[in-house]
Amino acid sequence: MRRAGTSHDPRWYKDAVIYEVPVKSFYDGNGDGIGDFIGLEQKLDYLQKLGVTCLWVLPFFPSPLRDDGYDIADYCTINPSYGTIEDFKRFLKAAHDRGLKVIGELVVNHTSDQHPWFQRARHAPPGSPERDYYVWSDTEELYQGVRIIFVDTERSNWTWDPVAKAYYYHRFFHHQPDLNFDNPAVMKEILSVLDYWLDMGVDGFRLDAVPYLVKRDGTSCENLPETHAVIKAIRAHVDLRGPGKMLLAEANQLPVDVREYFGDGDECHMAYHFPVMPRLFMGIHLEDRQPIVDAIEQTPPIPESCQWALFLRNHDELTLEMVTDEERDYMYLAYSQDPQARINAGIRRRLAPLVGNDRRQIELLHGLLFSFPGTPIVYYGDEIGMGDNVYLGDRNGVRTPMQWTSDRNGGFSRADPARLYSPLIMDHVYGYQSVNVEAEESDTASLLYWMRNMIRLRRLFTVFGRGTIEFLAPSNRRVLAYLRRCKDDLILCVANLAGSVQPAELDLGALNGYVPVEMLGYTEFPAIGELPYFLTLGPYGFYWFELQRPGA
Ligand code: NOJ
Ligand code: CA
Repeated sequence: MRRAGTSHDPRWYKDAVIYEVPVKSFYDGNGDGIGDFIGLEQKLDYLQKLGVTCLWVLPFFPSPLRDDGYDIADYCTINPSYGTIEDFKRFLKAAHDRGLKVIGELVVNHTSDQHPWFQRARHAPPGSPERDYYVWSDTEELYQGVRIIFVDTERSNWTWDPVAKAYYYHRFFHHQPDLNFDNPAVMKEILSVLDYWLDMGVDGFRLDAVPYLVKRDGTSCENLPETHAVIKAIRAHVDLRGPGKMLLAEANQLPVDVREYFGDGDECHMAYHFPVMPRLFMGIHLEDRQPIVDAIEQTPPIPESCQWALFLRNHDELTLEMVTDEERDYMYLAYSQDPQARINAGIRRRLAPLVGNDRRQIELLHGLLFSFPGTPIVYYGDEIGMGDNVYLGDRNGVRTPMQWTSDRNGGFSRADPARLYSPLIMDHVYGYQSVNVEAEESDTASLLYWMRNMIRLRRLFTVFGRGTIEFLAPSNRRVLAYLRRCKDDLILCVANLAGSVQPAELDLGALNGYVPVEMLGYTEFPAIGELPYFLTLGPYGFYWFELQRPGA
């Protein structure tokens, strides 16, 4: 049963454990107060020891950083604050030497307004190919009714450009003009960006904001067939390079619409499972499995070669765009009583503070993350239980320096503290003096130890990344129980979503004679018989059992 996927498998992403890492925040190798590739390379041993198998590196390109690098001013080089292209190549090789995959970002819905393409466009005559790299209009009438995403900062998806004497279109910040995918020259540029990074050896890309690429008047300008055609062309181009390169869609949409980003296995290999994430938090707060079961059961099937990307938290707010109004109200009430924690349609908090720093809830949520169908993504710092700072503006409160030690600057940088790109977390509970890698490495009961253990365990069983899921229906709704199955491999997961001890009676009739073996301690439990299988679970407790065939 123990067959871990290898990094040579073209479908490596099915068995991966992905780590989301912003270069800026991880480790400052040259002491200027900003994390860099030299620093990230120095911390690869840490990441390898954590057990993750793939690094998703947030945008590292030259940028005015008004959207933390999602506002790109040059696609084919490195932001000088993070190092040089040589530094990047060294980092990539060092990661590959350790068997770690590296995926970058393809942010092509928009560029920064500082990108030379935009500067050229605004000076070019209307109707010229240069002008048409972007989407222009003389009025704000076009694409009426299209929703605004950054509702806290933007009033319209159009902004007037005094140089071009026209409005340009943008789905995000006004300084991020949308590219025009109806212009074949734009598509050509994008494919050459892909070639540039693939030639260098990156293993794939996250496709930022993919639902919005193509716009058509009278529609929502989301998920249009023309947009899917663009993604298919990108995929076909990537496939020319041979197998093993992966595309991950960021499409914050309803399940039926996200499903389309897999196409017939000819669009993205992976897509984030946005719908299940808020429901995990809801389920725990309500102490009721229904929201979680519903989210998974409403997930349409996907092609065999494809995979969901699962996450608890990331560099953005905990988005509530795609939940019902009732669910959004509930989530705000349950998880952000402090209005300062809210931004746009979401909550800007890290995992540990979201659950009141309750170690049992942190473990339970990871227990679900690591055992649900898909590939888990861990957000940097969440493996040590880092906190946040909701006063830092925008989403910067969840992007503070990684906490390595209790020394100056949390061991993140040797710079004068005033020079750091961001203050560290310094409060009594989550401050770097108490929450840091060094302390957790010397404490075998720490969250970091626990995470290393769980990641290793998960990696031993490919059924987690590749198997089906079947929910059981115990009468106690505080208990979430499911079978994961892949060929002859069978795992039973049982979780208590409540903060009190709960009984579970599981109807496992069809598995009469199977022996559950608890996977963390490798303890044999009594064989399954005719009667319902009875278990008792501690507060927020969960078990993973390998079910061994009778006589095995
Ligand atoms: C999604 C990214 O995750 C977010 O950080 C960014 O602001 C928007 N896309 C716009 O690029
Ligand atoms: Ca630096």
